[in-house]
Amino acid sequence: MQRVRLLIYVAVCMIFVLGLTACGAKASETGAVNSALNDDGLNESITADVAEPEKSEITSTEVDAENDVNSEALEQNGAVSGKDTLVVVFSATGTTKGVAEKIAAITDADLYEIVPADPYSDADLNWNDNNSRTTKEQNDSSARPAIGSEAISLEGYKTIYIGYPIWWGEEPRIMDTFVESYNFDGITMIPFCTSGGSGIGRSGKNLAEHAGSGNWLDGDRLQGSASEADIQSWIDGLQ
Ligand SMILES: Cc1cc2nc3c(=O)[nH]c(=O)nc-3n(C[C@H](O)[C@H](O)[C@H](O)COP(=O)(O)O)c2cc1C
Repeated sequence: MQRVRLLIYVAVCMIFVLGLTACGAKASETGAVNSALNDDGLNESITADVAEPEKSEITSTEVDAENDVNSEALEQNGAVSGKDTLVVVFSATGTTKGVAEKIAAITDADLYEIVPADPYSDADLNWNDNNSRTTKEQNDSSARPAIGSEAISLEGYKTIYIGYPIWWGEEPRIMDTFVESYNFDGITMIPFCTSGGSGIGRSGKNLAEHAGSGNWLDGDRLQGSASEADIQSWIDGLQ
């Protein structure tokens, strides 16, 4: 009888031990899952903790880099560039810009392009349309189209060539916007234009009047196809 009891006791113990082992296995599986979840959760929170500051660091670095680029661009202007000549140009279809680039190359000048805040479309440039933007602007002497290009410092410049196409016999109104935005005291201003055939007319004088500062030469119309030699001889003849 005692043997039977012992056997029963041993059997019960074995069942108990097996049960514990099974529970332990389940517990460790659960622990593994939990730990995996925890790891994921931890990873997420690390990612979040690290990523967010990184994001803002990147943003501020990018902003700093952008500022550096902007300040570099500004430093290329005026006295900082070391050049004392500037060529300013507005060109709707590229002809005057081509001439301006040649002038800048010949005179070792900086180049500044007047870019309209609202660019001119082909329809805007249609001089056969009484209602086109340019026709309306040129018919309104008070029109002042906004300039989209960044403002330029004129510090250090002694001579400025200022170029534009002739529109309806005059300077485009955006040129008036430009000259009214700056002080040209102490600077020799040299207007030049391209056209389909018209001369420079009153446009240079108009600019001088609107500017109210600067020593303005009469200026000239140049051929869109002018060679560097043509331009050099024009510059040599300026006084
Ligand atoms: C609205 C408009 C008006 C123009 N008016 C004249 C004009 O009165 N006389 C002229 O000879 N050319 C005129 N042109 C032609 C331009 O002056 C010429 O094509 C010029 O070289 C264009 O220069 P850009 O390519 O730098 O804009 C006119 C062009 C436009 C778009």
